[in-house]
Amino acid sequence: MKKISVSFILNGDPVTAEVPVTWTLLKTLREYFELTGAKEGCGVGECGACTVIVDGQAVNSCLYPVPEAEGKTITTIEGVAAQDGALHPIQKAFLENNGVQCGFCTSGMIMSAKALLDENPAPNEDDIRKSISGNFCRCTGYVQIVESIEMAAGADK
Ligand code: FES
Ligand code: FES
Repeated sequence: MKKISVSFILNGDPVTAEVPVTWTLLKTLREYFELTGAKEGCGVGECGACTVIVDGQAVNSCLYPVPEAEGKTITTIEGVAAQDGALHPIQKAFLENNGVQCGFCTSGMIMSAKALLDENPAPNEDDIRKSISGNFCRCTGYVQIVESIEMAAGADK
């Protein structure tokens, strides 16, 4: 299989991956960089479990061809907490508000929420629901997730 070299910024650090040209960003993150926070749920762009942020936009990394990552800035759930390990306010809000049950959807939910709050720090409920409309959760019924994002935004205060 033909390999390519792809360089990008990953969670703040410049990196280069030597991977088969057909790999997706999700496969590269999980198998080359061993960052397994982004999950493969459906593999076809329908569940959002694989969501990461590329140049400020939440994307389904299972559909993202890794050659397109060249030169981009990519953030995964592993890059969301502070350097000293302190949780990001969105992570704290999910924990405090029971936004996590089995956890399979959680990294994708948090990345979609982060992309929203980075662009719009004071979203309304519609904005929040739209931002996670591509993220499926089989456990929570979404109420605690929406409330978690509202809490992180300070919108409930
Ligand atoms: S695994 Fe990517 S959208 Fe489901
Ligand atoms: S917490 Fe289980 S799928 Fe969302």
